[in-house]
Amino acid sequence: MNPYQTVCEQLQQTPKTWLVTGVAGFIGSNLLETLLKLNQKVVGLDNFATGHQYNLDEVQSQVSAEQWANFHFIKGDIRNLADCQQACAGVDYVLHEAALGSVPRSIADPITTNETNISGFLNMLTAARDAGVSSFTYAASSSTYGDHPALPKVEEHIGHPLSPYAVTKYVNELYADVFARAYGFKSIGLRYFNVFGKRQDPNGAYAAVIPKWTASMIAGDDVFINGDGETSRDFCFIENTVQANILAATTTDENAKNQVYNVAVGDRTTLNELYRAIQNALAENGVQYDKDPIYRDFRAGDVRHSQASIAKIQQHLGYAPKYKIAEGIQLAMQWYVHNLT
Ligand SMILES: NC(=O)c1ccc[n+]([C@@H]2O[C@H](COP(=O)([O-])OP(=O)(O)OC[C@H]3O[C@@H](n4cnc5c(N)ncnc54)[C@H](O)[C@@H]3O)[C@@H](O)[C@H]2O)c1
Repeated sequence: MNPYQTVCEQLQQTPKTWLVTGVAGFIGSNLLETLLKLNQKVVGLDNFATGHQYNLDEVQSQVSAEQWANFHFIKGDIRNLADCQQACAGVDYVLHEAALGSVPRSIADPITTNETNISGFLNMLTAARDAGVSSFTYAASSSTYGDHPALPKVEEHIGHPLSPYAVTKYVNELYADVFARAYGFKSIGLRYFNVFGKRQDPNGAYAAVIPKWTASMIAGDDVFINGDGETSRDFCFIENTVQANILAATTTDENAKNQVYNVAVGDRTTLNELYRAIQNALAENGVQYDKDPIYRDFRAGDVRHSQASIAKIQQHLGYAPKYKIAEGIQLAMQWYVHNLT
């Protein structure tokens, strides 16, 4: 049995209480679904800034009535310390996902991104420390590598941030480290690399590339590629990200704490390759889209290439990504075709 399976079995025998912030969003709602299916108790916090009630409704449809009864939702804002304190009361493990994502959103409105991602993070860290939770795991970001040219990305070597969003995610790591040093409150940061999968929002100006292209292809609209299409990313299917969170939250190895880890697959896919992969997976699911992409200017703040080393998280947390990009794209396209057509 691999470490993830072992942890899941232990959790089912001894259920815990989890807090998932950003629970109505893409990653948060997938964490919620997995945790409820493992018969855990889950408190969820969200202000619906970018999350949706329909994500929660879909999770409800995927679990039993008994499992759904283990979920308690708090509509609240991480920028409000009292909301964070209320959410942390009686919780064992915190998975902090709430933030304003998107590099372009942060360039358009750095102030709101800063308030949510830095002040909100500090509120959550403080409330979790004061509530005496057993573990605090938070969503960091591969954007922290900024302009550092080395590939693959290893946790110790970062460059200069290229966007306000990247600054906020790096400041999270700095605060987390200071809370370990100043208060002995250790946490784990997970630097996600382009997560994708069901419930990732295809709508709005700041949609991520996979849901945005998928929705355009399903609608028969033009698809735009920023730059020449040779920009590359380490796309990571959501189930791998869920695994990393559960392993991080439950680790009892003190040396594995107060650390940041890459969460990815360790592969590199160009946007041109991604375009063909989505096109093919849609065709296999009955959606034919024959147009070529339209190339336009590179986007400000974007990193050119991104690929993770996952050696550290494999070694310290026993992470083993089960889904490669092709399999993840297949599963994601099944969901989008079912939900968008
Ligand atoms: N999706 C990715 O590829 C990716 C990559 C790197 C890091 N991340 C990080 O992962 C986390 C989750 O991202 P996601 O893709 O699920 O995004 P998402 O937008 O789907 O989810 C974020 C959730 O946080 C909530 N939220 C925002 N501001 C809030 C506030 N002030 N108070 C309470 N709730 C608030 C939103 O309503 C939403 O439900 C974020 O911290 C993001 O920065 C995501």
